[in-house]
Amino acid sequence: MRIHIGADHAGFTLKEAVREHLVEAGHDVTDVGAYSEESVDYPVIAEKVGRAVASGAADRGVIVCGTGLGVAIAANKVRGVRAVQVMTPAFAEMARRHNDANVVTLAGRSIGSDEAFPIVDVFLSTDFEGDRHQRRVDQISAIEAAEACPTPSAL
Ligand code: RB5
Repeated sequence: MRIHIGADHAGFTLKEAVREHLVEAGHDVTDVGAYSEESVDYPVIAEKVGRAVASGAADRGVIVCGTGLGVAIAANKVRGVRAVQVMTPAFAEMARRHNDANVVTLAGRSIGSDEAFPIVDVFLSTDFEGDRHQRRVDQISAIEAAEACPTPSAL
């Protein structure tokens, strides 16, 4: 699977471990930075990963910051991105099965690689169930489209 991964300074250490884990598992991984613990603004990194996923250059995205929260908010501003902050493998599974999430975000200051690896593995290996969940994901996309191109009555 083609995966774009990124982190800010607070997520750098965990991102490095997750990147190595994904490469060892045979994935095609693109690291968009950060490349050190030097301070960097997380929206810049989140946008890079989000745009790669939205454009189809990547199948999935993984982003790490201190909490995973800021990068999720930022990545979700890119049309087509469904980013979720996940703390357990069970939530990673549900985010794929029901929400067709395409970006997972991790809390580098709260979890270590022992917790992150199973989260990412489940996120990458679980299929979307479709069916009624497709209808709901389509409704999310419709909200997004309406925000991008408001109808005259909404202006
Ligand atoms: C950086 O200090 C921190 O704010 C960032 O990594 C992230 O947790 C933001 O949501």
